[in-house]
Amino acid sequence: MKLLPGHIAVVMDGNGRWARQRGLSRNAGHRAGVEATRLLVENCVRHGIKALTLFAFSSENWNRPQQEVGLLMELFLLSLKREISRLHKNNIRVDFLGDLGAFPARLQQQINAARERTKNNDGMSLHVAVNYGGRWDILQAVKKVVHEARQGRLDVDSFSEQDFSRYLATAGVQDPDLLIRTSGEQRISNFLLWQLAYTECYFTKTLWPDFDAAELELALDAYAQRQRRFGKIAEQLKGNGENA
Ligand code: IPE
Ligand code: IPE
Ligand code: MG
Repeated sequence: MKLLPGHIAVVMDGNGRWARQRGLSRNAGHRAGVEATRLLVENCVRHGIKALTLFAFSSENWNRPQQEVGLLMELFLLSLKREISRLHKNNIRVDFLGDLGAFPARLQQQINAARERTKNNDGMSLHVAVNYGGRWDILQAVKKVVHEARQGRLDVDSFSEQDFSRYLATAGVQDPDLLIRTSGEQRISNFLLWQLAYTECYFTKTLWPDFDAAELELALDAYAQRQRRFGKIAEQLKGNGENA
């Protein structure tokens, strides 16, 4: 059996180019992207993936034309409403990471409702990164840490990387094993900066709306071929039964 990543993180990119290639509006591209996202979630559940983190809207995406930002918000709200029952039925725990306070109130309500409704599910955990930026995450964590240190509630000298992780938006979630980015771009675009330290990266030219079950299979095959050395040499890894 091939070795699977426990946690997959995805930069879902290329909706705009997918639409342009077809003479459609960017909005149509985003709608097609939502469908690909729905399929990915299903396929990850089918594979028994434990955690999936999706980059849905970055802190920099506010800089897009107002009309597109509005559409993305609308689409996010609609998809959440439409999908939450199915996610819940599939025993998926849905969570959100990012600076959520910036969203319209009704979207925040929907986010909280989705969280609340699925919080006791113990199947796959689905983490949706919205208004998320890796630098924002590190900075908000630092601020909390400084605050606690000032109040004498933590010992700065013994404070470890593991301790720090607990202040990040991904607290309690293992770091991603595999990062997938579609559309041919080979950059992180301010996604999980701390958490991706030792993640295997998989880049494909496929545009996000075309990322189907076969594309996921290719990414999983590529992952299974990787040797994760974490700084060690190959000879130290033999016989531990993992690609770690
Ligand atoms: C990804 O597709 C979706 C979001 C960033 C919200 P893009 O909209 O970035 O598509 P391209 O990069 O313009 O093709
Ligand atoms: C990254 O895609 C963010 C999301 C997929 C949500 P972008 O399309 O915003 O990234 P850049 O700007 O090309 O780096
Ligand atoms: Mg893009």
